[in-house]
Amino acid sequence: MYSRKEKRGDFIDRLKELNDARGKVGHENNILTEEMVMAQGIGFFIAGFETSSNTMSTLSYNLAMNPDVQEKIYEEIVSVAEANDGVIDHETIGQMVYLEAAVDENLRLCPPVTRYLLNESFIFL
Ligand code: HEM
Repeated sequence: MYSRKEKRGDFIDRLKELNDARGKVGHENNILTEEMVMAQGIGFFIAGFETSSNTMSTLSYNLAMNPDVQEKIYEEIVSVAEANDGVIDHETIGQMVYLEAAVDENLRLCPPVTRYLLNESFIFL
């Protein structure tokens, strides 16, 4: 199996830990195979690629059409970064509430995935 040297604590590391633990004490019920590990990676790539790139494309378009919103996001990013010694990571991005609201609104307007609520009131046109 492909292996990289450094650990990053990410999805690939979690899968590798599960794979390495197979057959060890406490992991008797681990039936993960190398093919299953690969399938998870492929599934995440397929599920995450088009959704994310589509969202970034439509968000870029909508921000270009609404420069006042773009400016507010820019100011929020600068202010959060300044308050955190220039660090922009998972934790500090979590403080960017206006950015998150803009992404959410963009997902509402331009969803890359649509899903029907199937119940008795559902009418297929
Ligand atoms: C804007 C980005 C994304 C949108 C709009 C989106 C949307 C969705 C939706 C609507 C579902 C179905 C949920 C359900 O059945 O209730 C789903 C499932 C899933 N998504 Fe995403 N997704 C996004 C990004 C990603 C990324 C980045 C990844 C992985 C890196 C990912 C991995 C998955 C996986 C593995 C499932 C299946 C979960 C399960 O089996 O329960 N998605 N996504």
